[in-house]
Amino acid sequence: MSGSATRRAGGTFDAKKYLPRVVHAYSALTPPRFLKIPSIFSFSDVHDFFLIDILLDDHLNKYPPARDYQRSFWKWALEKLESLSGDEEDNEIDERMYQHYTTLISSVANALPSDSYITHYWKPLDPTLSSDVEVESTYEMITLLESRATIAAGTTGLRTWRASFALAQFLVEHTDLVARRAVLELGSGTGFLGILIASLHLRFDSTSAVPTDCSRSADPPTIYLTDVNPCVLDRCQHNIKLPCNRSSSHPNIEYRLLDWCDAIFSRDSLASFFANTSAEIILGADVVFDPAMVPPLVATLSVALSQGRPRVALIGITIRNQATISYFLQEIEKALMVVEVQHTMEDSFISLTLDQVDAELEVKILKITKVASLFFSAS
Ligand SMILES: C[S@@+](CC[C@H](N)C(=O)[O-])C[C@H]1O[C@@H](n2cnc3c(N)ncnc32)[C@H](O)[C@@H]1O
Repeated sequence: MSGSATRRAGGTFDAKKYLPRVVHAYSALTPPRFLKIPSIFSFSDVHDFFLIDILLDDHLNKYPPARDYQRSFWKWALEKLESLSGDEEDNEIDERMYQHYTTLISSVANALPSDSYITHYWKPLDPTLSSDVEVESTYEMITLLESRATIAAGTTGLRTWRASFALAQFLVEHTDLVARRAVLELGSGTGFLGILIASLHLRFDSTSAVPTDCSRSADPPTIYLTDVNPCVLDRCQHNIKLPCNRSSSHPNIEYRLLDWCDAIFSRDSLASFFANTSAEIILGADVVFDPAMVPPLVATLSVALSQGRPRVALIGITIRNQATISYFLQEIEKALMVVEVQHTMEDSFISLTLDQVDAELEVKILKITKVASLFFSAS
């Protein structure tokens, strides 16, 4: 991309710095009505960006957004380029972009949005980089094949929910919670958090030359991803193993069908499972949504936090239905210690789609322990 900095009163627009945000938005299927390209950018900057960084990009060709999304994106992009080209003869739009759009509009439109690859970008907090360095290479990617419906094949687990983004950001800011620690996730869904944790494990290992605790092995700790639904767990495994995700090279990821109702109907086998896992952190994102599932979930957390080594659970709750949340709090506080931790989604490290389901809703993160935690300091 032939990026340039265009100066105008009040500030500098740096195309190289700004345009990658459009890639992030495109990769996360952000509707074009939310996308903006400042008119101060030159035709050639924007043209080369659309051509090289989007149309010809290797990753986006291997893991493309769904065709119906691409269709609306390229309609917007071509209109943008046409408006920027003015009457300049040199400002010709590369034929490949028109050809791509023509292919998209000639394909049959599905009544329902099809599954799509979605790529989210996040920026590890790297103390060796100054905060104003914002280059593409400092981002990591999480790519998922996801449903775009809220319920698909009878489950909510085939897409990533906002509570996962909140927990992800919290973990990126508090890497000590998961670095060198085995982690178990309840209701893992598509594997978004699993991919993030695998990246944090591998990142942490590769950046620390000398292990601080010699009793821990050199291999990254285990990540246990669990869900009640076999299709969801298959999709989770598929996403974790996508070669573009760092998680594909994590050697210790286990997948397990786990139904919270087991804590009520086959408590002993669930207890022995938890007793045998090395997990120190239990995660759950958007797992409090159905009042009927509150007693089994509370029982599961109670079993998980009572077996084996001392553990902490971090549960991300989207405040959708206050009555369900109050019921969960009332039940969980009978058995366990609950503290709400402060977090923010404002300076997001994750590129979030603006029209996400639940975008307006608050997400709370609860720290749940059996006894006061020794290693957890974020509050
Ligand atoms: C709203 S989705 C959240 C998925 C993922 N954690 C996220 O934030 O994107 C709820 C998840 O809980 C799982 N789930 C629902 N009931 C469950 C149960 N009884 N036992 C275990 N998992 C369950 C679903 O299969 C689904 O993956």
